[in-house]
Amino acid sequence: ETALPRITVIGTGYLGATHAICMASLGYEVVGLDTDPRKIERLQSGEVPFFEPGLPELLAKTMATGRLRFTTSVEEAAAHGDVHFICVGTPQKPGMDAADLTYVDASVTALAPLLDRKVLVVGKSTVPVGTAARLTGLIKELAPAGDEVELAWNPEFLREGFAVEDTLRPDRLVFGVASDWAREQLEASFRPIIDNDTPVVVTDLATAELVKVAANSFLATKISYINAMAEICEATGADVRHLAKALAFDDRIGGRFLQPGLGFGGGCLPKDIRAFASRAEEIGVGQAVSFLREVDAINRRRRSRTIDLVREMVGGQLNGKKVACLGAAFKPNSDDIRDAPALDVARTMHGLGANVRVYDPAALDNARRAYPELRYGTSAMDVAADADVVVLLTEWTEFREIEPSALASVVKHRRIVDGRHALDAEFWRAEGWEYRALGMP
Ligand code: UDX
Repeated sequence: ETALPRITVIGTGYLGATHAICMASLGYEVVGLDTDPRKIERLQSGEVPFFEPGLPELLAKTMATGRLRFTTSVEEAAAHGDVHFICVGTPQKPGMDAADLTYVDASVTALAPLLDRKVLVVGKSTVPVGTAARLTGLIKELAPAGDEVELAWNPEFLREGFAVEDTLRPDRLVFGVASDWAREQLEASFRPIIDNDTPVVVTDLATAELVKVAANSFLATKISYINAMAEICEATGADVRHLAKALAFDDRIGGRFLQPGLGFGGGCLPKDIRAFASRAEEIGVGQAVSFLREVDAINRRRRSRTIDLVREMVGGQLNGKKVACLGAAFKPNSDDIRDAPALDVARTMHGLGANVRVYDPAALDNARRAYPELRYGTSAMDVAADADVVVLLTEWTEFREIEPSALASVVKHRRIVDGRHALDAEFWRAEGWEYRALGMP
């Protein structure tokens, strides 16, 4: 039995911090590296710099074992690690569809010159296919240990809000490797998770890179598919809720990611499908995934259609109307507002002259920082005070549990647009509300 590989995690954002904490909780000696000293200070003092259920508790527990530390010193990280996980962000390039690989390249360029013994570098970030092949060349060129240093790819599928669970009990592990040695190192790095009956798919680097974008594209397509059906329902008086329910009983289709509504947002799905389409075009196979452009377009139309519903409800003009927006995060149980459909809708209505007030249980600080021009309130009741219309944009449990009679006592008009099919339409209508939602009469 060989010793456990010592692990470094490069980039302590959402993915990296979660990975570092979870690996340490499994018994590995972990060093987390980031260039941002504030992030490192906060983590080192036991604070998770973002909202993720269960993670602060796990950080406290693992810090107490002494197996986890955070640093800004790349020398310290390089000296520590047998396996280096690259977990930096790959955002969308400003004004373009392609992924921005600045951080991935910078982390490899900083680390590689310090690698003077046989170690494994593992990419976890979501990247355009072909990146690993390019990085392999870069490492070979920069690392004193040269060919001894190997690169592998291990995509990450965690969902925000379920990050700990998804990391410790993933649906599957994907190991993209170029040698048996690399595979063995990855197996040693995930031993407790593999022993937990987690399926492992061992493949080449390019396939491993592709699995991630293929999975996210499939999920995005599924959401846009049901939202396309909602458009048809809107034109025909049919009801997408019943349609989705009936489809879901076919277990070849299944009900997950088949919830119609305002559509997808967040830091992954929208940028990943765009980057994938753009990469496919670059390598001359754009036609194969051109449908992803349509998936994106359907998704955007849900946002404008939601605004149309609100406008119709208030008599055709948003100007001067008081609109209460429930939700800002891109999904419930998250404070993440990246490409959040909720805030997109709120900002557009604000731009159309509506008097918009926003409330969200977790994302208010982030929303305020990003969009100071919007007005914010302290609760659903607070923003709904005297409102002409209430718009539910993120399906938090606390919004699902709102009593129509309680809300009725504060609003000016009993009008609600349910952008997420989160409420019981029949009940709200019975309580005297004008209730409207996408894809239903
Ligand atoms: C996603 C993938 O699920 C995850 O595997 C990957 O690693 C990262 O991207 P995440 O961005 O955390 O995770 O969010 P997810 O829970 O997938 O939701 C994405 C968006 O789709 C949300 O805006 C959500 O509101 C929307 N959605 C989801 C729907 O509109 N309908 C559905 O049926 C499901």
